[in-house]
Amino acid sequence: MAKNTLSFVCQNCGAAYNRWQGKCESCGEWNTLAEEDTSGSVPVSIRSRRKGRTFALESLAGKSPDAPRLSSGLSELDRVTGGGFVRGSVLLVGGDPGIGKSTLLTQATSLLARAGHRVVYISGEEAVAQVRLRAERLGLSDAPVQLAAETSVEDIVSTLSEGAVPRLIVIDSIQTMWTDTVESAPGTVTQVRASAQALIRFAKKTGAAIILVGHVTKDGQIAGPRVVEHMVDAVMSFEGEGSQQFRILRAVKNRFGPTDEIGVFEMTGLGLREVTNPSELFLSERDLGTPGTAVFAGIEGTRPVLVELQALVAPTSLGTPRRAVVGWDPSRLSMVLAVLEAHCGVKLSGHDVYLNVAGGLRINEPAADLAAAAALVSSLVNAQLPTDAVYFGEISLSGVVRPVAQTPARLKEAAKLGFQRAVLPESARGETGGDAGLSLNAVNSLTTLVAEIAARGSRRGESNAPAEKNATPARFRRGEG
Ligand code: TYD
Ligand code: MG
Repeated sequence: MAKNTLSFVCQNCGAAYNRWQGKCESCGEWNTLAEEDTSGSVPVSIRSRRKGRTFALESLAGKSPDAPRLSSGLSELDRVTGGGFVRGSVLLVGGDPGIGKSTLLTQATSLLARAGHRVVYISGEEAVAQVRLRAERLGLSDAPVQLAAETSVEDIVSTLSEGAVPRLIVIDSIQTMWTDTVESAPGTVTQVRASAQALIRFAKKTGAAIILVGHVTKDGQIAGPRVVEHMVDAVMSFEGEGSQQFRILRAVKNRFGPTDEIGVFEMTGLGLREVTNPSELFLSERDLGTPGTAVFAGIEGTRPVLVELQALVAPTSLGTPRRAVVGWDPSRLSMVLAVLEAHCGVKLSGHDVYLNVAGGLRINEPAADLAAAAALVSSLVNAQLPTDAVYFGEISLSGVVRPVAQTPARLKEAAKLGFQRAVLPESARGETGGDAGLSLNAVNSLTTLVAEIAARGSRRGESNAPAEKNATPARFRRGEG
């Protein structure tokens, strides 16, 4: 006789307790505990009675050639996975509802099916007709993807075990799956974990690659599936600002590839378009002629990406001034502000400070320090920075501008996009990789840069502002290209 193993499981992090309590001690969330049977098994009598039934799959595809990696046909997706899906691997794709996960995977599966691979798309959220409608909208109806709307893991495994092993299986989403080996309700942590386990077992046994889709809670964690993160081979998150068209696919964990690469997409009326040159996209909406913006020449993985940093420094009406930052590390901002105060005589304690990375990108590099500082000072003294300049460099606590990696790649990208000057660390001047075609303004300490910007501020009102505007690369002027 099976022991009664009812316990209270946190629906946010998966921690289990013997008694109900209001707050989860593990993740600190309130009211997330729900009663579940965590025994992980059911009496043999029930198990043997239940044999997975088979269900019909839509039109069949061809056979599968053997290759360790399966390229998806979307180079931005392949970049993030590290060169394609690995045989027998399981990948979790997380993201907000409506961000475009189903669209991305419909496109990827269709391309693979067209290339002759057996690809199966199991939708637990939408009916077959809805998935078809999306495919029609994307112009992919002719792709021989095998489609089903199913939620029972046993049925799915039984069906997929027949015939040739699929190269790729998409499960959209893992929260809708349920297995009858556990008694909890679908969507609970126990169910999600058990379903994922069964699917992972199937992937390892057969060599099929599986993509699990997972929805994310408002605080950015993959709800329920968070407990799956350690079981899968790779975790990607699909991010983007609701109001903007850019979507960024980021590897959070990857057993078979890098975790610092990003894939950039644009959501259009005809699905996701790959953006092979993200800089052009991030700079396309530049607000020229306003103080407080600086272009940062960054590196994402192996690829240079130019992006605009926007700062607003305004007198505060609060006792404690506000510091708000989107797309960058708040503690990095605090550090830059402290260095500006301590070493450059810039008084910010009476000001609210806002910093935003344009286009919904999230920057992790310390190399953005110099661009952030330039944008902040530019906003404070109300002086526009040269619109044809890029900035990069790390700032140390002593106010020294320190060199960063991959200087030549950053300069090359800036030159390619029509920029004329670069403000960079003095010590990086030697490794500019020959003639990048930019005029270089090497700064040794942050004080130098602050003085230069302040001088522009005091000169403001003289003739230089209109001249700056004309120096702008034509493609970034508002309303063009
Ligand atoms: P979807 O892939 O269903 O999101 P998810 O699976 O992550 O919940 O995408 C939903 C959004 O994408 C929806 O708001 C409409 C939009 N969309 C487009 O803008 N263009 C398109 O071609 C498609 C298919 C969707
Ligand atoms: Mg979806």
